[in-house]
Amino acid sequence: MKRNVLITGTSSGVGLEASLLFAAQGYKVYATMRNLKKADSLKNKIAESDLDIEILELDVTKIDSIKMAVERVIKNDGKIDVLVNNAGAGFAKTTEQSSEEEIRWVTDVNYHGVVFCTKEVLPYMRKQKSGQIICVTSVGGLVGQPFNELYCGSKFAVEGFMEGLASYVSDPFNINFTCVEPGGISTEFMTSAVGKTVVDGQMASGEYAPIFQQYMDKSAERSGKSTEMVFQTGTEVAEVILGVAENENPPMRIRTSKWAEELCELKTKADPDGTKLVNHVKNKFL
Ligand SMILES: NC(=O)c1ccc[n+]([C@@H]2O[C@H](COP(=O)([O-])OP(=O)(O)OC[C@H]3O[C@@H](n4cnc5c(N)ncnc54)[C@H](OP(=O)(O)O)[C@@H]3O)[C@@H](O)[C@H]2O)c1
Repeated sequence: MKRNVLITGTSSGVGLEASLLFAAQGYKVYATMRNLKKADSLKNKIAESDLDIEILELDVTKIDSIKMAVERVIKNDGKIDVLVNNAGAGFAKTTEQSSEEEIRWVTDVNYHGVVFCTKEVLPYMRKQKSGQIICVTSVGGLVGQPFNELYCGSKFAVEGFMEGLASYVSDPFNINFTCVEPGGISTEFMTSAVGKTVVDGQMASGEYAPIFQQYMDKSAERSGKSTEMVFQTGTEVAEVILGVAENENPPMRIRTSKWAEELCELKTKADPDGTKLVNHVKNKFL
């Protein structure tokens, strides 16, 4: 039987491209999204190439919707081989100027969404004694960045969650955990994150305004000078995810570009793929 994969957040960007790549590689893909009205781009690609992709509704903030999607996969195939926790959201704002709703939302989508999707598939993977859980985190999961602290905090949380699971679930149950850590990607995410900040206009006033302006100028300079070096395409990141799924000994963590690697090197140089750290933790606690 084909390997199967459930991917979250496939209406656009990395999730959409990953769905196409995994299907082209011979996987049965369960491409999930919270709003099925956004399925047209994926549906058109499926029709063009006759790919084995089933589109399902899944909102990572709604436990019932996660359960229904996972049950559907198990009912169809009796197993789940790979979960790609890709759905994510963010904005650039100070903590002080973010509303309670925004703070809870970014944490819910980026962290709790990962926890609940992972929690739902683990019993099946444990029973089948195989499985792979891949989370698209970010360089923001390793390095806190200005005006991104709420996003970074949620991605740090995912990294800690994954490290903890890897330390005691991987060996006995043959389940691998990987954090895929991109830098900038040219997807809807960038437009919606920056767009939200500009539309809200909250950064234009107050004592933070000149610091924010400095941040925006530097971002513009960075993307203007070396777009190719800084920003990857969704497909490039999806290729890294597929590479991890195809790897018999996948790393605990992997950056997806040279720029991402350089940004994180003070934290990752001693142990770039996280293997030493997981072994160190196992030796200390188990
Ligand atoms: N773009 C970057 O620069 C960048 C850098 C590093 C890491 N990342 C990470 O890469 C991943 C993919 O992002 P992307 O760049 O491909 O951006 P994207 O095109 O905006 O895709 C994000 C996906 O997440 C979905 N999503 C948001 N909230 C959801 C929810 N409650 N339930 C289910 N799905 C939900 C979105 O669905 P809707 O269309 O319904 O909103 C969309 O399909 C994210 O985890 C992001 O944090 C992105």
